[in-house]
Amino acid sequence: MTADSNNHLWWQEGVIYQIYPRSFQDSNGDGIGDLQGILDRLDYLQWLGVTAVWLSPIYPSPMADFGYDISDYQGIHPLFGSKEDFKRLLDAVHHRGMKLILDLVPNHTSDQHPWFLESRSARDNPKRDWYLWHDPLPDGSPPNNWLSVFGGSGWQWDEPTGQYYYHAFLKEQPDLNWRNPEVRQAMFDVMRFWLDLGVDGFRVDVMWHMIKDQQLRDNPANPDYQSYMATYEQLLPVYSTDQPEVHDLVLEMRKVLDAYDDRLMIGEIYLPIHQLVAYYGIDGKGAHLPFNFQLLLLPWDSRQIAAAIDQYEGVLPAGGWPNWVLGNHDQPRITSRVGKEQARVAALLLLTLRGTPTIYYGDEIGMRDVPIPFGEVQDPQGLNMPDKNLSRDPARTPMQWDNSPNAGFTTGKPWLRLADQFRRENVQAQRDDPYSMLTLHRRIIGLRQQEQSLMVGDYVPVFADTQLIAYVRQAKGYPRFLIILNLSHRPAYFKTKDPTLKGVVELATYPEREGQTVGESIQLGGDEGVVIRLD
Ligand code: GLC
Repeated sequence: MTADSNNHLWWQEGVIYQIYPRSFQDSNGDGIGDLQGILDRLDYLQWLGVTAVWLSPIYPSPMADFGYDISDYQGIHPLFGSKEDFKRLLDAVHHRGMKLILDLVPNHTSDQHPWFLESRSARDNPKRDWYLWHDPLPDGSPPNNWLSVFGGSGWQWDEPTGQYYYHAFLKEQPDLNWRNPEVRQAMFDVMRFWLDLGVDGFRVDVMWHMIKDQQLRDNPANPDYQSYMATYEQLLPVYSTDQPEVHDLVLEMRKVLDAYDDRLMIGEIYLPIHQLVAYYGIDGKGAHLPFNFQLLLLPWDSRQIAAAIDQYEGVLPAGGWPNWVLGNHDQPRITSRVGKEQARVAALLLLTLRGTPTIYYGDEIGMRDVPIPFGEVQDPQGLNMPDKNLSRDPARTPMQWDNSPNAGFTTGKPWLRLADQFRRENVQAQRDDPYSMLTLHRRIIGLRQQEQSLMVGDYVPVFADTQLIAYVRQAKGYPRFLIILNLSHRPAYFKTKDPTLKGVVELATYPEREGQTVGESIQLGGDEGVVIRLD
């Protein structure tokens, strides 16, 4: 299939940048990032070259799960600013030709949301059925064995009304009943509210969780469970997630978006590839981008990753646009997973594969997971399973801007401690350093956005040595590129019999390589990645 190079949407051509608002930039000295802070840093994002900014939740919330427990879907948490601040931010983003994507959390609300307060007030309350209330089993135990992702049972007993309610996450995050048409309408109205304001799309939180088995069947045991894993992994969530009916729902959500021009729906979905691609929907009428987390989850092994890329390319439905994610606020940072040198190779991979890349804030300067002393842990996932090293705080620490106190993030006390080495590892220090991670990011983004083949061209795998991943990107009528990445620390050879695979190194993890003419046989150093402009 040859890409039609001239007919792509902004989110197919663009690069997405995820901001965790608490940690990006504080403007008022309370130690927590805010909307004005983001506004103040838009020049940086534009300089970096990203197309769209996705903000993790900024709505009113008791913050039991740092904003993923929403108590008002149509407001802004005062910690982050006001509606006016939001409108100013949106305008400023648009003014720069960029897009703004909001997090939408439709699976659950906060237990402080007025809907839930009503729902739990009495069994005959009109909103009772908006949530998943069920009677106990005869012995008083929960309706079934479903577990909470954050540890313990997924069911919480409510003494006053004598029923359990289901929460896939914290008990402070009760799941909505999406089988109820009123719930659907209420959430569609929320979507319209933000779309009317001009928001360019949503990243839909835990999309695969939204509908559960109506018969509440028990989940089966996971035969591969190991004690180091989260307790949730003890069972296979076959009845509590990824139900067939979820696809009707995704379709309906998409219809809401399609009443507007050019808006984007991303789905957060942690599922094996074959189940994941079903979320593109029949005839592509589902999510535009079901998040593809393979680079986050697979071991950093060239053979496994190369196979996964090919498999993903192979199972994408016709017209389904690929996407790649290397980091987010729920997973360890790439630099901490694969090391500083390989993180450069990973950046080239993310930004040269076919499909929309999502960059997690700070990864562009190689930020690492910051060790958080036990007494300072804030993430409920970490607190609830203290012995499993599952806290997400280390990947959520404040952005490292410069070498001033608190890295320029705040004049107050940061809500989460900063990396000790922030004085060396920050935006300011890397901005003009030709060898820095930031410079590598800026250059590869620039090249990608300038070259049709890299931006939207086809992906053609190329046979390579076991330590390497190699592929060509090509759009008809435009220069082609060969990308060769060494995912190991040892040198390796790339050899080809294809006489057309020769050209000049345009960009490399070790810039000394650039400008070299290469062909037939190329020796790569450990941790080396090259982008070759083919003749
Ligand atoms: C998603 C979010 C995560 C949150 C969870 C519950 O996985 O990314 O941060 O804790 O949903 O809303």
